[in-house]
Amino acid sequence: MKKAKIAIVGATGMVGRTFLKVLDERNFDIDKLYLFSSKKSAGTKLKFKEKEYTVEELTEDSFKKDIDIALFSAGGSVSKKFAPIAKENGIIVIDNSSIWRMERDIPLIVPEVNPEDINWHNGVIANPNCSTIQCVVPLKPLHDIFKIKRVVYSSYQAVSGSGVEGINDLENGINGKENKKYPYQIAYNCLPHIDEFTENLYTKEEIKMIEETKKILGDSNIKVTATTVRVPVRYGHSVSVNLEFEKEFELSKVFELLKNKKGIVLKDDPRNNIYPMPVDVEGQDEIYVGRVRRDYSLENGLNMWVVADNIRKGAATNAVQIAELLINNI
Ligand SMILES: NC(=O)c1ccc[n+]([C@@H]2O[C@H](COP(=O)([O-])OP(=O)(O)OC[C@H]3O[C@@H](n4cnc5c(N)ncnc54)[C@H](OP(=O)(O)O)[C@@H]3O)[C@@H](O)[C@H]2O)c1
Repeated sequence: MKKAKIAIVGATGMVGRTFLKVLDERNFDIDKLYLFSSKKSAGTKLKFKEKEYTVEELTEDSFKKDIDIALFSAGGSVSKKFAPIAKENGIIVIDNSSIWRMERDIPLIVPEVNPEDINWHNGVIANPNCSTIQCVVPLKPLHDIFKIKRVVYSSYQAVSGSGVEGINDLENGINGKENKKYPYQIAYNCLPHIDEFTENLYTKEEIKMIEETKKILGDSNIKVTATTVRVPVRYGHSVSVNLEFEKEFELSKVFELLKNKKGIVLKDDPRNNIYPMPVDVEGQDEIYVGRVRRDYSLENGLNMWVVADNIRKGAATNAVQIAELLINNI
């Protein structure tokens, strides 16, 4: 891999700090590193490979520096304003927010699924929604062989998906204090509400899962529906995935395909109470799949349970993998 000059926008956030960890763990060859945040955290010192870096306030001049790739993770409004500025300065943006994901000229990439889409970027590449990333990886080999007709997602999403404020609401709730981030207490509760409600009565999170699945798998004919739920779990999203295939399938072939898919760990031994759980995936990059079984209510139906660390594979790790694809392509 060639050396790269990297900027992290939102470096002090939950995803931003994980970028640093993942870049370090994967031995990403960094020539120069620039860290940006809002005015609030400017001046914070963060360590990367034993060297201390000072976080700078993000301004319109930030991208006049010598940067190849900027990893953005500071929310949609920051991406909307600053990604075009970075692009004008010849920097390739990998964006974690949802604002560019469905643009026709912006690739939406999960490296285990559609790495070839890196070839048509024109300065901005979108990192998909966390719950979508973990689902499309197991869907891909199954779609390739059995052709998916319909997907029903039901998600159980950790509070860290709302950043530091989500974690605070859970901890405060457990201690009997008021919620600030969510409309209701999240401690000892489940909220069928992630992101805003839209006119069609779905939440934006549900629409992200529906639309992004089709874009990443490159098939607009797949029917997808979703119900997304916030649960009192710190790290790790879980998704119950119900599939209907066009073709008949053998369960043994499904197990074989999932077992052989890069990035997936099949953890499925119900007789011994072995199945994936969010507490076990914290800090890991793999996507865990279990409870794989036929849906007998359909002709060609399958159920499975998919769990991954939303901050790592759902955000930072996937974005760093995209950066690796880029570096190897440049
Ligand atoms: N958490 C997840 O599971 C997850 C998954 C996928 C994608 N994402 C996306 O990643 C982004 C960040 O999420 P997070 O969980 O890391 O949030 P977070 O912990 O709240 O961190 C937000 C980061 O953005 C910075 N920031 C805020 N306003 C800024 C501004 N005007 N200019 C420059 N920097 C600014 C913050 O800097 P200060 O320290 O100065 O406030 C902080 O570094 C969001 O777009 C989110 O949708 C999150």
